[in-house]
Amino acid sequence: MKQICVVGVGYVGIVSGACFADLGNRVIALDIDEKRVANLNKGIMPIYEPGLDELVERNVKAGRLSFTTSYKEALDGTEFAFIAVGTPSGVEGDADLQYVAAAARSIAENMTEPLILINKSTVPVGTGDWVADIVKEAQPKPIDFSVVSCPEFLREGSAIGDFMNPHRTVLGSQDMEAAEKVAHLHLPLRAPIVITNLRTAEMIKYASNAFLATKISFINEVADICEVLGADVKEVSVGMGYDKRIGPMFLDAGLGWGGSCFPKDVRALAFMAEEKGLDPKILNETMIVNYRRRELVVEHLTEMLDGSIKEKTIGLLGLAFKPNTDDMRDAPSTDIAKALNAAGATVRGYDPVSMDVARGLLPAVKMFDDPYSMAEGCDALIVVTEWNEFKQLSLKKVKGLMKTPVIFDARNIYDPAEARELGFNYRGMGRGFNGNGS
Ligand code: UGA
Repeated sequence: MKQICVVGVGYVGIVSGACFADLGNRVIALDIDEKRVANLNKGIMPIYEPGLDELVERNVKAGRLSFTTSYKEALDGTEFAFIAVGTPSGVEGDADLQYVAAAARSIAENMTEPLILINKSTVPVGTGDWVADIVKEAQPKPIDFSVVSCPEFLREGSAIGDFMNPHRTVLGSQDMEAAEKVAHLHLPLRAPIVITNLRTAEMIKYASNAFLATKISFINEVADICEVLGADVKEVSVGMGYDKRIGPMFLDAGLGWGGSCFPKDVRALAFMAEEKGLDPKILNETMIVNYRRRELVVEHLTEMLDGSIKEKTIGLLGLAFKPNTDDMRDAPSTDIAKALNAAGATVRGYDPVSMDVARGLLPAVKMFDDPYSMAEGCDALIVVTEWNEFKQLSLKKVKGLMKTPVIFDARNIYDPAEARELGFNYRGMGRGFNGNGS
């Protein structure tokens, strides 16, 4: 049994900590937020993530997982300290590293034995070296340590499954012995392990997220072309995805990417390139194409409602940036709701789990407890998040409740022919409605 400390109980920290505990390690998870730690000690999770409360409870009961605000306690007898704190976007699109620096400093001040610091937060290339300098400077007396980069690739909503079944583990360090020790911790995950230098590991994380974001922006651009040429992007994606060189994942066209990762990471990678005098054209266009999706929704809906959405009542099906999370960071729903409000519409919202967060962010949106009561009297509905429960809605019942049966399916979850047969004025994204398609 190895003893591990995880600094930061946000998404990555709490999931990694609970999963490492489940793999049989002793894990002490630390956060400076006293309320978060007190809640965790009462079994209240800081985030909504399927399966997380059960995983945490099981490992706390088994004595393998505990929570603290004390670095002294967390580092006592610990061989591995994971840094999993937030790296939000700074004002210019650079990554804000103040939490990483604070964590490194506190670790340095409180460590009493040799330690391997493992960075899981997404940090600009070169941060690992910078963390090593901070630790060296902040140590009251020199104690051996190494820095390893171990970027995380889990997705919100499927985080536990992603952690336990990774496609690969990436480790970067200048100290190969330390990297090997960290590799050992990951052996039970049975994934290929790539060991490289610090900067390359840090870059692998940015390049991976930026590639996936680009793939999504690409299919969204194709969706627009499908629309005017009368093709159906959903079927185009299926046809493309069978090609092993392309693969079927991340080819869902619609509202594009949001959340806490892709927006900040694409921006940060472009920023790093520009700082060195490069012109990262693909990354910049990837962002432009992505954010255009949100404007398009309002344009389409205006067309569907005969040129004006003023004084119309519009219901948003889904508010979280993607299904199975309550995360509203950079969620398309926020921009769409604001644009609809600005155009004079009354906006309603319903989401299976993110309503509490959404209420604070979107005070002008009237929230409903279920999709049917929201639909009652609406002039139009927009599918913003592709929650499974929306796929199962009785569209017949919805039609009976609405003032006018208009659906803009911005996530392509419904069958256009079926929706139209039921009498809906239906549009999806990239499904040939302007051309000679269905
Ligand atoms: C993403 C990466 O997928 C993870 O590998 C990475 O670890 C994580 O960022 C991170 O850096 O922490 P996440 O943001 O949780 O994970 O969610 P994704 O499932 O990747 O979706 C990102 C966005 O892309 C969502 O807004 C989603 O709606 C959108 N998306 C995804 C599409 O529009 N189309 C698709 O085909 C797939």
